[in-house]
Parts: sequence; C-alpha cells; structure tokens
Amino acid sequence: MGVTASAPAKIILFGEHFVVYGEPAIVLAIDKRAYATVDHSDDKCLHVRSTNLNLKGYFKDGVFKAEQGDIREAKLKFEPVRVAVEKVLAAYKEQIGLDIEINSTVPVGAGLGSSAAVVAAVTEAAGELLNVKMTKEDVFRVALEAERVVHGTASGVDPAIATFGGALLFQTDTGFKPLEVKTEVPLVIGDTGVERSTKVQVDKVRTIAENYPQIMELVKKTAREIVLRAMDAFKHNDLKALGDLMNINHALLYGIGVSDESLEWLINAAKKAGAYGAKLTGAGGGGCMIALANEGKLQDVLDAIMRAGGRPFMAKKTDEGVRIERT
Ligand code: MEV
Repeated sequence: MGVTASAPAKIILFGEHFVVYGEPAIVLAIDKRAYATVDHSDDKCLHVRSTNLNLKGYFKDGVFKAEQGDIREAKLKFEPVRVAVEKVLAAYKEQIGLDIEINSTVPVGAGLGSSAAVVAAVTEAAGELLNVKMTKEDVFRVALEAERVVHGTASGVDPAIATFGGALLFQTDTGFKPLEVKTEVPLVIGDTGVERSTKVQVDKVRTIAENYPQIMELVKKTAREIVLRAMDAFKHNDLKALGDLMNINHALLYGIGVSDESLEWLINAAKKAGAYGAKLTGAGGGGCMIALANEGKLQDVLDAIMRAGGRPFMAKKTDEGVRIERT
C-alpha cells in the first residue's frame, strides 16, 4: 500500500524574478495538489512512475533507465525526486529500493511549482514510510536542494510554499514569513499550454541585469515598492488596488523580457472581461497568467481566457502545506 502524501501548487502574486535578486515576493498556495505514494521495492532500485505524465523508469546506482515515455524528459522530471529520496535515505542510513508513484493535478512546467510540489510530497511520504523524523523545515531543505538540481539558482520560493502552504512573504536573505491574508483572493488562472524552463527564463533576466545594471536597480526598487503597497492593500481588502499593482508588476516583467505572446493574449482578454488586474505568474515565457476579479466577474474572465485560447480554471488559496494523505 505504501504511504501517500500531497503538497500544493502555488502562484506568485507579486515579485517573481526580482526575488532571485533579494527582493520580496508574495506567494499563495492554491487548491491544486501533487500526490506521491512511496513504498518499498523488491530490489535496490528507485522506481518512479508519473501517471499524469505517462513516464516511468528507474535509477540503478544513480543511472537512469526509462521504461515508458521519452528518456530525456523522464530523466529531467525524475532527477529532483532521486535527489530528494537520496537525502531521506542518507538520514535512514541504509540503501534500500523504493517504488514511487506520482499523480499530480498541477499543470507541469507552467509556473505553478509542480516540480516542487511533487518533490515535497515524495520527501514527506518517504520520511513517513521509513520512519525518518522530519520537521517541515527538513522537508523544505530537502525539496530546496532537489529543486536546485533542475532550476539552478532557484530562490526557494516554490519548495517553501509547497511545504508550508498558506500565503508567504518570501525574501532570500530573511526567509519566509507567513502572511495573514483574510481576503478571499478570487483568481482565475490561465494556462497558455506553452511549456518552458524556469532556468532559461532566470538566465534571460540575468543577462538583462548584467547588461543594464543601473536600470535593473530601479526596476527592482519598483518591484519592492509594489510588494509593500500590496501588503497595505491586503490589510484594507482592497482588490482594486491589488489589481492595479498586478498590472504594474506585469509591466515590469514584460520589460525585462519574460512575457510572451501567448501570455499577452490571455492577460488582455482577462482585463477586457473586467478583471481588476492580470499578470504572468512564475517564470513566464509561456506557462500561466493570473487574473484577479470580483466574484461576479470571475466567470466572464474565465470565459474570455478560454476564448483567447487558454486553459482557465478558478483557484483559491489553501492553508494546507505538505501533508500525509494515507499510510
Ligand atoms: C519561479 O516560480 C519563480 C522565479 O522567481 C524563480 C525563483 O524564484 O526561483 C522565476
């Protein structure tokens, strides 16, 4: 039977990319989760299967063998899982084989932190199965190291929210602080269906920052100010102000080259349909956009995103981080 754990996806409301340079970001866990079931295997290999991606393979002495799906894709997707499991096995102090089944409801490669949610769920389930005592902080550290393997200089925002849930104010030097968000944050998420790599997007911004350091300083300062104003807007339940700030934040992201045509279509459609604000979320270059609207306009915004060619769904904040589902 094994142990099943789950962890939530996330959206970044404000501050993606600038967070890599030490600026604050506001992140929400949403009610879409990744599930992982971990059990003992009959051999010493690490077997991994993703039912939603139709990928299957195993690691033997660190070498990957694909059994289903594209070998490069499977290796790329499963490598963080291997790293995480190795950390748990190091604490268990014995090399054993494991069977892992992943089933995620989070769109992949779309800026919603699917990879971090999977890794957090695998870590929690493996820890529980092997009786390795792990605090949430430990799960976060393991998921962070595993994420760094694929995403390079990742800020840690994805593993943090997948582990702790809720709403977080995140900053690389001070870490994360839970943020009290009493307002319902009525969101429509639009998936462009364009898959892209976070690392490539982060590298793009690095080139801009290296070529135009003084301008980047000013852009970062503006991004910081947006986060501060957004915290005020949360205190006053001011959705209109939050929408304005999302639009300004998006303009900055557009300026540093991380939006694309597929995102712009959906963002414009959402705004025309009456959203208070809309922006890309996560790394950009495809992936997802988010739109904030009052409850009465949500369906109109969702329909408009669909007509513009996106795959929309409504999302709510969830306070539940990584958790055991079944033992
Ligand atoms: C990716 O979800 C968010 C980025 O800011 C990268 C990171 O923070 O690791 C683009």
